Amino acid sequence: MPEYVVTPWEVRGNVNYDKLIKEFGTEKIDKKLLNRMKNNAGELHHFLRRGIFFSHRDMNWVLDEYERGNKFYLYTGRAPSGPVHLGHLIPWIFTKWLQDKFDVKLLFQIPDEEKFLFKDKLSLEDTKKWAYENILDIIAVGFDPKKTMIFLDTEYAKTMYKHACRVAKKITFSTTKAVFGFKNSNNIGEIFYTAMQSVPAFLPSIMEGKTTPCLIPYAIDQDPHFRITRDVAPLLDYPKPAALHCRFLPGLQGMSGEGKMSSSVESTCIFTTDRPKQVKDKIMKHAFSGGRRNVEEHRKLGGNPDVDVSYQWLTFFEEDDKKLKKVYEDYKSGDLLTGELKQMLIDKLNDFLKEHQKRRKKAKDQLEEFMLRD
Ligand code: TRP
Repeated sequence: MPEYVVTPWEVRGNVNYDKLIKEFGTEKIDKKLLNRMKNNAGELHHFLRRGIFFSHRDMNWVLDEYERGNKFYLYTGRAPSGPVHLGHLIPWIFTKWLQDKFDVKLLFQIPDEEKFLFKDKLSLEDTKKWAYENILDIIAVGFDPKKTMIFLDTEYAKTMYKHACRVAKKITFSTTKAVFGFKNSNNIGEIFYTAMQSVPAFLPSIMEGKTTPCLIPYAIDQDPHFRITRDVAPLLDYPKPAALHCRFLPGLQGMSGEGKMSSSVESTCIFTTDRPKQVKDKIMKHAFSGGRRNVEEHRKLGGNPDVDVSYQWLTFFEEDDKKLKKVYEDYKSGDLLTGELKQMLIDKLNDFLKEHQKRRKKAKDQLEEFMLRD
């Protein structure tokens, strides 16, 4: 059994992110790049300060162009197959920050055909229903309606399809087999799909009528698609899209279970529509703890924040570095008990979700402002 697996369809085990950088051939986000981003953005998001966004491709080129006045577009996406959970929000929260700080447009792809093609049980009607549910969460993240275009592949098909054909003509069957491991039993829609995910990376140049950089923030499991996109780009006279990659928010069960939060294992998951009591129950019952067997031992020997899921989650959701550091130290020394740490996380998440749910309710009325159709 491999130590971990990271593909667009499966994330499992204890992911070694440094190793992934080498395997995928990406670059680590280093101090120098962080400083450059800080100079342009005015500050660094805590996802950058803490290495949650840890890897990139061509970010220096994006900044070169930006500093010269050639603004980039952001592009990200969500394949709709079920409800949105906290793990999905991580790249979106960061994308919103980039949009605010760099004042740029965003293309948000909802490939409703993707999950239809890849999941036996889902019909196109199901994925469309989930698409419109999920868009409420996307809008709730706070994107600027004037600068954000959200589209379903099936509803923006007139534009998407012809560009997808241009892309598809440049991708051989042996390439998709090598990159995705397709077998004879895969349906041909699955084989074509990567062309559809590539197209929005070229839409900035198409929409602007000039060479326009595209920056794609995404969880690292999507990288195989964009390796293909980058190979195809010069063949069609587009710039290669740049990328910023994030780690996965671990599932509640921690490293021993799924490598990322997964809706198929409900108890490992906090959904954006969970009520405060559900959040509390799930964390109290399921969050993997780095605490000791009993209070006495914990006080004496201290806990292990590095494997403790509640602490790991606070690194995503507690923005204040000082507070986070104190939690780390107090847990390690035994001053802070597991129950207390869990309660801190519960309060943090419930505050966050209360605001998110308010915005999600309002999103229904704003939806049309965001949608792109043809
Ligand atoms: N394939 C992605 C998923 O399974 C959806 C997606 C489409 C996407 N375009 C993207 C993700 C661009 C990140 C960036 O959710």
